[in-house]
Amino acid sequence: MPDPAKSTAKPAKQPVNKTRFTDSQVAVTRVGILGCGTVGGALVDLISQRAAAIEESVGIRLEVRHIAVRNLEADRGPAVNPDWLSTDSNAVATAEDVDIVIELLGGIEPARELILGALNAGKPVITGNKELVANHGAELFAAAAKNKVDFLFEAAVAGAIPILRPLRESLLGEDVIRIMGIVNGTTNFILTRMTEDGASYDEALTEAQELGYAEADPTADVEGFDAGAKAAIMASIAFGVEVVANDVHHEGISNIDQTDIAFANRLGYRIKLLAIAEVFGTGANKEVDVRVHPVMVPLTHPLASVRGSFNAIFVEGAAAGELMFYGRGAGGDPTSSAVLGDLVDAAVNLRGNTFLPVPAGAPAVIRSIDEVDSAYYLNMEVGDAPGVLAEVAGVFGQNGVSIGSMEQTGLGDDARLVFITHIAKERALQQTLIELGELGSVRAIRSVLRVIED
Ligand code: HSE
Repeated sequence: MPDPAKSTAKPAKQPVNKTRFTDSQVAVTRVGILGCGTVGGALVDLISQRAAAIEESVGIRLEVRHIAVRNLEADRGPAVNPDWLSTDSNAVATAEDVDIVIELLGGIEPARELILGALNAGKPVITGNKELVANHGAELFAAAAKNKVDFLFEAAVAGAIPILRPLRESLLGEDVIRIMGIVNGTTNFILTRMTEDGASYDEALTEAQELGYAEADPTADVEGFDAGAKAAIMASIAFGVEVVANDVHHEGISNIDQTDIAFANRLGYRIKLLAIAEVFGTGANKEVDVRVHPVMVPLTHPLASVRGSFNAIFVEGAAAGELMFYGRGAGGDPTSSAVLGDLVDAAVNLRGNTFLPVPAGAPAVIRSIDEVDSAYYLNMEVGDAPGVLAEVAGVFGQNGVSIGSMEQTGLGDDARLVFITHIAKERALQQTLIELGELGSVRAIRSVLRVIED
């Protein structure tokens, strides 16, 4: 026998394994989908494109088995096998040959009942339904925990952007103290058009509708309801408490006009609709402040540079410092990417006979908006006469609201006073507004916006 240590011959080539997993090591995961609209259709396409790569990387073979639809006749493209289609969503949610259920119907019912049915049948569930999670999350999290299965909903907040999994996993040990997000692409598109192209609010909204960003009834987007649901979900996961959509104070962007945009530009700010969630105190003293409203964001802040329909979430942790997550917050492909990530995660957990409970706990103590501290921008129409500025400034002073800067524009009937205050309590600011409204010299308070100080 030659001594291998002394041999100069090259070792025989080992056969290269094309796949990391043999057939017997691959777990087949059978998928049932409720709904095959924009996101459902995109998801089926994406599964067919990515299935081989997923099998290669984690040894999971995803197989769509059933899709519940309302209309069996609609054209759904080549990736959808007509044999998968059924109008019986209950049967799909609890089918024997379905391991994981994906709910993409939207709305509260029947989505809630169907998800509970699937969870109680021992099936992990994935959804992108923000309205449902923000209003009935606790019930669904409890059902998932009771049945020891995953309930995952990454797509419910900011489309393709991974934010819930980082909050649930990577940042689980972190003391997350604040989250500020641009989580509604429609309003960010409108504000961007108003800022960069001088469009009026109505022009920008019409364009958003033509591009398919905004619905015919844009209320949910422009009045902050959509962002409010997402804020409630992020706050629940980040702070380990139950926050529901109703807990969120929200104001929209429909009152913002070109005067505000012009002032913001001149003063070095961008106006953004932000979802903000903050936590104060710990244990029994923990309070959560969750709100959605327009904010003047300094140009130096990373959120100021988020343009068009993009979303971004800025997270502040005690040890991690500042983190930002950026990407597409809506649309079939971006949203289905988030659903697919959850699907692979749930399939891997299912194979390992494990699951990740949702870390949301007891109902949150919500800090009243009156107690929130902020700097403010106020824009008011005033009479242009001696003593008016002193009178107006006096009202700020009497309420303990300190003025940071002031500017007068226009003369005579067009006179406007614009103030930026230092940090003040919302309650003091609201009292200031009441008293300013009672002054004969103040014709109208045109807008009030919170300001992030530079
Ligand atoms: N309408 C939302 C937006 C997407 O404009 O961002 C769905 O939440």
